[in-house]
Amino acid sequence: MKDLLKVKNLKTHFFDKKQTVKAVDGVDFDIRTGETVALVGESGCGKSMTSLSIMQLVPGPNGKIVDGEVMMGSKNLLKLTENEMCQIRGNEISMIFQEPMTSLNPVLTVGEQIIEVITYHKRLPRKEAVKQAIELLNMVGIPRAEEIITDFPHRLSGGMRQRVMIAMAMSCDPKLLIADEPTTALDVTIQAQILDLMRDLSRKVNTAILLITHDLGVVSELAERIIVMYAGQIVEQASVDDIFDNPLHPYTQGLIESVPDIEGEIGRLNPITGNVPTPEQMPSGCRFAPRCTHAFGRCFEEEPVLLSKRHNTRAVRCFLYDEETGVKNVTDTKNTYS
Ligand SMILES: Nc1ncnc2c1ncn2[C@@H]1O[C@H](COP(=O)(O)OP(=O)(O)OP(=O)(O)O)[C@@H](O)[C@H]1O
Ligand code: SF4
Ligand SMILES: [Mg+2]
Repeated sequence: MKDLLKVKNLKTHFFDKKQTVKAVDGVDFDIRTGETVALVGESGCGKSMTSLSIMQLVPGPNGKIVDGEVMMGSKNLLKLTENEMCQIRGNEISMIFQEPMTSLNPVLTVGEQIIEVITYHKRLPRKEAVKQAIELLNMVGIPRAEEIITDFPHRLSGGMRQRVMIAMAMSCDPKLLIADEPTTALDVTIQAQILDLMRDLSRKVNTAILLITHDLGVVSELAERIIVMYAGQIVEQASVDDIFDNPLHPYTQGLIESVPDIEGEIGRLNPITGNVPTPEQMPSGCRFAPRCTHAFGRCFEEEPVLLSKRHNTRAVRCFLYDEETGVKNVTDTKNTYS
């Protein structure tokens, strides 16, 4: 598979009078054409800011991308002007959020909003745009699409609104769909339907998905690879099977252990005692050390780097694994990296 997006050393910080919040602090990852990658981690670890940085939508004036590159082909998205970025958003990269009502305009009908997107990006005559809007609503499983396009968003259920958002996001066959907690606000049955829909659409049009979620249940259904974030950094990257069968980082292990056992139940992560460090308490060594049951002397003095095992997509940021070979070098864990 070809690389679609390469994020390199991304740093997004918030500056206020008292402190700097390093919301994203040196993040590197790739997304390949057509693949689904999940970004997981507890609240506040920087998932949304990573995706908003890719889209150049970091909330100002305090939030700033201070370093890094987001390469799409030979283009660095972080160097594009706002006009150029408008052409990328919705066209090449689309985004959907947890609560569709906040992204839909309450005073415009569903149809008008989809038609607006289609006419803006595809420059189609209105009649053709209306036809395409109906086709799109059919494609995302909305019944009676001809009638629904004249409805206002509040008339639709949460699940239907999210389908409308997906229809809008997919209207220009984007290369990448960023979905930030797309099903968190929905009940479990509807969640499953929306995830099925996303999977079907991404297969049909070969759209890559960056799925941001708290729910490892959701991840195992949809994603091929998982990126685990903690306190603004990536701590582990691997295939879904590797993460579930053999999680390496103590934080990932904690996340996996907190997934409910009951089959079919999708639970929110409630892992590991203690809290994510606040900016004032950010440890100088490993950021996870105060909560890590494996922590030893070095963990409190030095910051571990993200190690990629050679010829492998796995990577882990932890002193338990050897810096040269990426193989486990401390005997107190059950896991191996080889
Ligand atoms: N406007 C802001 N001003 C200052 N700090 C902010 C602002 N927005 C976000 N942050 C900080 O950036 C960090 C990362 O936030 P982000 O929204 O990316 O987290 P997240 O992983 O998406 O969490 P959640 O799962 O709750 O959505 C947090 O520590 C947050 O407090
Ligand atoms: S580096 Fe040390 S503290 Fe950090 S996760 Fe690994 S063992 Fe735990
Ligand atoms: Mg978020």
